[in-house]
Amino acid sequence: MELKEKITKAFADRFGGEGTLYASAGRINLIGEHTDYNGGFVFPGAIDKVIMADIRPNGTDKINLYSLDLDDTSTFGLNEEDAPSQQWARYIFGVCRETIKRGGTVKGFDAVFAGNVPLGAGLSSSAALESCFAFAVNNLFNDDKIEKFELARIGQSTEHNYCGVNCGIMDQFASVFGKKDHLMRLDCRSMEFEYFPFDIKGHKLVLVDSVVKHELVDSPYNKRRESCERVAAQLGIETLRDAEMADLEAIKDRISEEDYMRARFVIGEKQRVLDVCEALGKGDLKTVGERMYQTHEGLSKDYEVSCEELDFLNDIAREEGVTGSRIMGGGFGGCTINLVSDDKYDHFIKTVSEKFEKRYGHAPKIYPVIISDGARKL
Ligand code: GLA
Repeated sequence: MELKEKITKAFADRFGGEGTLYASAGRINLIGEHTDYNGGFVFPGAIDKVIMADIRPNGTDKINLYSLDLDDTSTFGLNEEDAPSQQWARYIFGVCRETIKRGGTVKGFDAVFAGNVPLGAGLSSSAALESCFAFAVNNLFNDDKIEKFELARIGQSTEHNYCGVNCGIMDQFASVFGKKDHLMRLDCRSMEFEYFPFDIKGHKLVLVDSVVKHELVDSPYNKRRESCERVAAQLGIETLRDAEMADLEAIKDRISEEDYMRARFVIGEKQRVLDVCEALGKGDLKTVGERMYQTHEGLSKDYEVSCEELDFLNDIAREEGVTGSRIMGGGFGGCTINLVSDDKYDHFIKTVSEKFEKRYGHAPKIYPVIISDGARKL
């Protein structure tokens, strides 16, 4: 059964009748990692993997949720002290609370949701969940008056205040603003962004999932952010966006070796995003790929958010002549993103699957990337 049918059927069984369907998407990021909370650039796009929800106001002040994938329910009120115990429900509670804090209206509703964004793979299933409900609450109770950037911020604040992850804005932005066949370069300082037609003739983009569980809650993610903030404070600037390599060298003896390495990655990554956007515009995929490998190297050695499995996947990509490959997302597990020429594609997929399985006892998961729309009413 299709996702949509499964959800509407479960809604009818549980609550009777029908609601309104909403969806939002997971995301990829071509380049620009750990730059969003440093005021830098990111270059993401929404993908064809979604979280979908069927929602209907119920005329009470209670929210009744059913997660079809987890086969679990949660009921809660809309006051701060009503926070549900399950983590999955806190994402939705957080979205409601953050909407209310911004002066928006939220009333009771019944909802059933499910999705096909792989969990813990670094594809931002949580951002998809947040933006799906933020979009729905805006549509159902606020006449679409909350502007789209605010919807993304509602998701981001949910992570900060209800889930313990001090994330940047990239995932929620991509999930809300995603547009079919386009990537978006977002300047996370000015919040200006531009759509880029995603045209990689003769190549494919594919994710290879190590299936190493990526979990940002309680992860060293927040520690990375703190390192960057310490260096920025030493430099007397707001974020590392405003630092050059020479500035970092000048304060090297005043910061820890670890903070130095973290900042070195972030400063280098800023230029790589700009290089990739320019190269993509010219159809120069060789440069795009080179920068992707450089990002992997930096994320692995300087930012230290890789793991053995992801480095192994990256090594195989190099051996197979893949144009570009790197860890994608926050790191600590999840996927690599690979830019592969059509003639090398089949061989790469076969080899990477076999070699990985031989080494780790399980095959990686392969997800071809299709750039799609973000949050929407169906
Ligand atoms: C996670 C965060 C994002 C971003 C990436 C790394 O996905 O949610 O805000 O920082 O990691 O680029």
